[in-house]
Amino acid sequence: MVAVESPRLETAARALELQGVGRRFGGLAAVRDVSLALEPGERRAIIGPNGAGKTTLFNLVTGELRPTAGTIRFFGRDVTALPPHQRVRLGLARTYQTPLVFPRLTVRDNLYLAVRGVRPWRLSLRAPRPGDPEFAVVAELAERVGLRHALSALAGALSHGEQRQLEIAMALASRPKLLLLDEPAAGLSPAERESLAALLGSLDPTMTVLLIEHDMDVAFQVAQRVTVLHEGSVIAEGTPEAIASDPRVRAVYLGGTHGE
Ligand SMILES: Nc1ncnc2c1ncn2[C@@H]1O[C@H](COP(=O)(O)OP(=O)(O)O)[C@@H](O)[C@H]1O
Ligand SMILES: [Mg+2]
Repeated sequence: MVAVESPRLETAARALELQGVGRRFGGLAAVRDVSLALEPGERRAIIGPNGAGKTTLFNLVTGELRPTAGTIRFFGRDVTALPPHQRVRLGLARTYQTPLVFPRLTVRDNLYLAVRGVRPWRLSLRAPRPGDPEFAVVAELAERVGLRHALSALAGALSHGEQRQLEIAMALASRPKLLLLDEPAAGLSPAERESLAALLGSLDPTMTVLLIEHDMDVAFQVAQRVTVLHEGSVIAEGTPEAIASDPRVRAVYLGGTHGE
């Protein structure tokens, strides 16, 4: 008898593999024939101008949108038809272009909910207490993203950069195997960008990270490889150095802004 998936193939499975993935919105091909493979533990950035299809591609990976073509595999498993919550159960977590935290709850309670994997309207919220198993985890998550001092602050009172940090901590709460970050540096000050890049650099190296980034400095600091999307298609892929000097990339995207 031959096993369908041999142990060798299992180990060799990509963390994420897209084959010929496309998504149309009526007449608009927002994502076209995208093939992409991320090794476990890889840090990959997707860059591209506004409207290139980056967020749509993310939504296809998370299952918030269904592709109109192609297949998506997560650690060797075809997840193309799986709903988002089942992909989350397989180890996928994401952040949004606009931080999705609960502004009227404290940082502690936001993290507490994330650790328990629930939303506030699904349970009557009871504050975590020192004896709860989640209590230490919440403190550790806050520590990891530099928000330990702000545990009792309302999430809505945090700076934009701190809300980003909180959102990342909330995504980490499920101990994801693949973390997707949609423009984590958007709206951050230069100082906040630096601490974000440091935070991303300090994440568990075995976790696979796919980030969409508009900010070249952050993308190039964090990612080992960069994929460039333009009008829904991949036009280049390579190391940050190769991408920064690729004339096609400079023409469509970096233009005069690179190196600012
Ligand atoms: N739900 C949708 N319905 C129709 N068009 C959409 C939808 N989402 C995105 N688009 C279009 O798809 C293209 C890619 O958008 P998006 O993925 O948000 O790009 P990016 O994140 O790279 O800025 C844009 O032209 C956008 O207007
Ligand atoms: Mg976007």
